[in-house]
Amino acid sequence: MQLKDSVIAITGAAGGLGRAMAVRLARCGAKTALLDMDEEGLEQTREQCEQAGATSRGYPLDITQEDQVVACFQKLIEDFGGLHGIINNAGVTADGLLVKAKDGKVEKKLSLEDWDKVSKIDMRGVFLCAREAAARMIEHVDAEAPEVRGVILNISSISRSGNVGQTNYAAAKSGVEAMTVTWANELSRHGIRVAAIAPGFCETAMVEKMPRKALDKLKASIPFQRLGKPEEIAHAAQFVMENDYFHGRVLEVDGGLRL
Ligand code: CAA
Repeated sequence: MQLKDSVIAITGAAGGLGRAMAVRLARCGAKTALLDMDEEGLEQTREQCEQAGATSRGYPLDITQEDQVVACFQKLIEDFGGLHGIINNAGVTADGLLVKAKDGKVEKKLSLEDWDKVSKIDMRGVFLCAREAAARMIEHVDAEAPEVRGVILNISSISRSGNVGQTNYAAAKSGVEAMTVTWANELSRHGIRVAAIAPGFCETAMVEKMPRKALDKLKASIPFQRLGKPEEIAHAAQFVMENDYFHGRVLEVDGGLRL
């Protein structure tokens, strides 16, 4: 897909990986529709996209609310005149061990509330936004064109392969990868390509809030002993958005953490 003059929606665009991806795509000439609950952060990302020379708009949105998602996509289509891609990046963590046993006492550590919170944002939110984006993209595509006309890029995580303390997040991100394959199977007939990126641990607020001991241990286990830079994930996102033969697969960008 040609990024120049395409319209790409990005969730979780107010900071971190979402901002880095939005700015990178803006530098490639894409018009960016920035979705997030954090209005201040959205404005900062919007300014950076505009500085990169691309039209950009921010849309305050809670991705877990169906009515808000429907209204938001309707508005952005009116504003931009179409939609060519979405990056489902918004996500949260609420880490906790499943149980902890000490001195013969067993404690349940991961609360149902934290299970629900993470699955609601990281999985239901992705479902709602992808469903809306797919419907709008199919409505606005050129029916004569045989090639890829829309792209859905889901942001998973290397944590999905069972990171300690992340039952909820690993389950949600595994769900995101399962949806990626299902949608790749379902949507190719409509000219929509679907893929995912599983980033490793990057220099973001999400990773920086990890307990120091856990972060140090983790860094020591990465072959290059450093966190990834958001720009390195954004670089991968550009590749996935542009490469029309990358479909139904997950690209792992983790510095070799999972070797
Ligand atoms: N591997 C194996 N066992 C571990 C472990 C690990 N990484 N971490 C904890 N444990 C076990 C150990 O038995 C540990 O005992 P020791 O202290 O003797 O090693 C025991 O759990 C208790 O650990 P804590 O004292 O840390 O327990 P806690 O209840 O206070 O916290 C925790 C547990 C919530 C898992 C905490 O350790 C933590 O937050 N760890 C980091 C989790 C993580 O990796 N989060 C990633 C967030 S960033 C992200 O997710 C972005 C992305 O997409 C990649």
